[in-house]
Amino acid sequence: AESKRSRLLEINKEAAKYFYFQLRARQGETGYRYLRDRQLSDETIKKFGLGFANKTSNDLVQYLRSKGYSPELIHEAGLCNVDEKHGMYDKFWNRVIFPIEDINHRVIGFGGRVMGDGTPKYLNSPETPIFDKSRNLYGLNFARTSRKGNIILCEGYMDVISMHQAGFDQAVASLGTAFTLGQASLLKRYTKEVLLSYDSDGAGVKAALRAIGILKEAGLTGKIISLEPYKDPDEFMKNLGKEAFQERIDHAENSFLFGIRMLEKEYNLSDPEDKTRFHREIARKLCDFSEEVERENYIEAVAEKYHIGFENLRKLVGSIAAQTG
Ligand code: CTP
Ligand code: MN
Ligand code: MN
Ligand code: MN
Ligand code: MN
Repeated sequence: AESKRSRLLEINKEAAKYFYFQLRARQGETGYRYLRDRQLSDETIKKFGLGFANKTSNDLVQYLRSKGYSPELIHEAGLCNVDEKHGMYDKFWNRVIFPIEDINHRVIGFGGRVMGDGTPKYLNSPETPIFDKSRNLYGLNFARTSRKGNIILCEGYMDVISMHQAGFDQAVASLGTAFTLGQASLLKRYTKEVLLSYDSDGAGVKAALRAIGILKEAGLTGKIISLEPYKDPDEFMKNLGKEAFQERIDHAENSFLFGIRMLEKEYNLSDPEDKTRFHREIARKLCDFSEEVERENYIEAVAEKYHIGFENLRKLVGSIAAQTG
């Protein structure tokens, strides 16, 4: 099994090298242009080992075969598709390539982005014996040695790369899948504080709320970085720059208060009945704080922010806690 793993690492390294040189060749010019248009420097492109998969459909397969790799290994590495009509052909085709590295800088998989508006926007390697998406994070190979004292968790490859280019070398992203407890435990080895910088659209908010719960389960505290009015860290950085982003880090929102603020949107607070239900829901959530001082502090913060009488909210929390044990 150990030799299988090392052979998979080796073939991935070879594929990454191939993609990397394609980006610099004539046929990779559209890919290189695409990345430069997205304001990535040559240095950044090199640091992240970005590459390009050609338009021709079995370049990589042929290259790897010529290097002596077996069809079985190419397939097991997730680098090709196979069907009756076409035989074996490249999985990644006309895409810019983001090699995914483990914390020791070994290539364990790939993400590929279409240029322009095709679908799917991103194509990712399947899980393989060396690529467990739930136990790796994009960018952690660099972020692990950051001296910033926190980790910034974002959604996408481009977010991580833009952040690193701007000097935020503590940025990581989950790999095209939802954030997992395994990833949270991995982060816990390197930091106590995670700053969430998910997209500001509905899906991003939903994913952030979910991630907050997972971080909490892992014993990490989370704060939320607001990107408004921009959609994701990459766009924020492009438009407002790093000083503005640092401002947003300094003003990151407590994750509990963020959750309550998102909850608020679901109620019509000019209606007393709805307002009451909102307050009950807040009280229910406050019950989750088992430590008395912490609970009191949150009751105080919420009471003030939402203009609820402190004693009333406290009593409500107390009675709900008594009911639910
Ligand atoms: N993703 C994916 N497959 C898709 C869409 C998204 O795996 N079809 C993953 C990718 O890791 C992507 C991340 O989810 O980076 C966030 O998705 P999204 O916000 O849609 O993409 P961006 O990273 O913002 O992409 P870009 O800036 O290149 O448009
Ligand atoms: Mn998104
Ligand atoms: Mn984006
Ligand atoms: Mn995005
Ligand atoms: Mn300030």
